[in-house]
Amino acid sequence: MQRIGIMAAMHDEIAGLLAQMASVTTRRIGMRDYHTGLLHGQRCVVVLARIGKVAAAATAVTLIREFNVNALVFTGLAGGVAALVRVGDVVIGTTLLQHDLDASPLFPRHQVPLLGCSHLAADPALAGLLDQAAHDYLMNDWPRDISPASRRAFGLEQPRVHRGLIISGDQFICEASTVQALRAELPDALCVEMEGAAVAQICHEYDLPFAVLRVVSDRADDTACHDFNAFLSGVASHYSAGIVQRFIQAV
Ligand code: ADE
Repeated sequence: MQRIGIMAAMHDEIAGLLAQMASVTTRRIGMRDYHTGLLHGQRCVVVLARIGKVAAAATAVTLIREFNVNALVFTGLAGGVAALVRVGDVVIGTTLLQHDLDASPLFPRHQVPLLGCSHLAADPALAGLLDQAAHDYLMNDWPRDISPASRRAFGLEQPRVHRGLIISGDQFICEASTVQALRAELPDALCVEMEGAAVAQICHEYDLPFAVLRVVSDRADDTACHDFNAFLSGVASHYSAGIVQRFIQAV
């Protein structure tokens, strides 16, 4: 039976999934708890990776080497970058890039030194399953999960699913001028977060299929900090649990 590693940066992003797991055993390595068990009959290892690229990379390596996972999925929140990406929308990464990586003039800006590329591709099959799971969730459970009061509070209308470039960096983007600069420099970027491209690099190096799912909590602008915290404690775990649960049943 295959084993899927499921990672997130913050507790609320995996709380719903942990609650659904059966036959759980927990191993603590490097200050992280790796929960192995069954999620809807599928063997999974769920772990809180913590925030940032180093934390994500270290956790991904441990999942691969200590837990022999066959595939990795990262779930969590992101700031919307593209104009059409609104709070409450879902973004599935098809490619990932580290927006803060700059070893120029030795290597071109954004290129991962010695890998020779800046964009790392997610596994198309896993990304396709996440896409399907997100559509199913938004169509069927979202209207029940997210109360009208929460929808009003976050200004959520019928959310959409986007597929494309996710950018990552060790920086919480919370200034309109900063997100505007990212938009100008990387016009294809849909959303920004702090881990996905690090997981992508590790999975590329270990030749492991992976996918990244992000729910947009804020617009990475001057109100991002407030919006992110409200979304995290309000509705984030519903989205993650609802979408990943459907994905796991299809994988
Ligand atoms: N994750 C969620 N919102 C974010 C933002 N604005 N910047 C970086 N990571 C995020």
